[in-house]
Amino acid sequence: MSNTTSDDSLITTEVQADSNDDSAAPAAGTAVAARNLNVYYGDEQAIDDVTMEIPEERVTALIGPSGCGKSTFLRCINRMNDMIEICRVEGDVEFGGKNVYDADVDPVALRRKIGMVFQKPNPFPKSIRDNVAYGLKIQGFDGDIDERVEESLKGAALWDEVKDQLDSSGLELSGGQQQRLCIARAIAPDPEVILMDEPTSALDPVAASKIEDLIDDLAEEYTVIIVTHNMQQAARISDRTAVFLTGGELVEYDDTAKIFEDPEAQRVEDYITGKFG
Ligand SMILES: Nc1ncnc2c1ncn2[C@@H]1O[C@H](COP(=O)(O)OP(=O)(O)O)[C@@H](O)[C@H]1O
Ligand SMILES: [Mg+2]
Repeated sequence: MSNTTSDDSLITTEVQADSNDDSAAPAAGTAVAARNLNVYYGDEQAIDDVTMEIPEERVTALIGPSGCGKSTFLRCINRMNDMIEICRVEGDVEFGGKNVYDADVDPVALRRKIGMVFQKPNPFPKSIRDNVAYGLKIQGFDGDIDERVEESLKGAALWDEVKDQLDSSGLELSGGQQQRLCIARAIAPDPEVILMDEPTSALDPVAASKIEDLIDDLAEEYTVIIVTHNMQQAARISDRTAVFLTGGELVEYDDTAKIFEDPEAQRVEDYITGKFG
């Protein structure tokens, strides 16, 4: 996509933090890295000492049984857990050479770089155009909004279906179209990473399959991190798969083919073959 108006910094203050300290610099090709990440809700631990590097411009799937911490982990990456009062995060999530939990990181700027799509499509009660333009207006985008709306809708494989009804409500679209609208809204500010939390589980199989195809295209330009409880989906669309098991433990993380064909851990094999979960 074309240029953004904001600079690339996540930092809103004047502080030039740790510019000589390269100990936290991620390896080349890593979009996001968790380092000894622990997350608690009150006394209950939801993520247990997770360390993992997520490659850029690939699809990484997070799988595991319900309650194992997949959504919690995903929300740590763009600090959506900040909204949950009892949630406490320890450890680092590195993005762009910074720990996103550093005091000088602006979560709003962070979320422009790391967009999110949820399970249930949640368009705003606004026109299709205004849904996509929403984030651009907030960030004071001074480029051509209509052009960016078109690019984003094309990027979300929705343009052809809605180009003659940009002023009608996003809520009038079908479920699958609404989810693609939410994807268009997420990519409009030109993020680097897109987080998706079970983005197809509320959709019919045809709509879900369109989103799967789209995810494959998105990974040419963005880093996609997707939570799914659908193992076939993870196997179909991801390059890397992380298997979380009860207690928020990352049990195995490897190339998707390796996880599904020849996992190292017996517990992962049992989970993949449906013995539990
Ligand atoms: N907002 C919350 N408040 C308290 N506990 C939560 C909250 N969200 C999640 N949890 C708990 O954290 C654990 C992990 O949940 P979650 O990340 O939603 O798992 P998953 O997405 O894998 O189903 C669960 O035990 C869940 O009950
Ligand atoms: Mg979840």
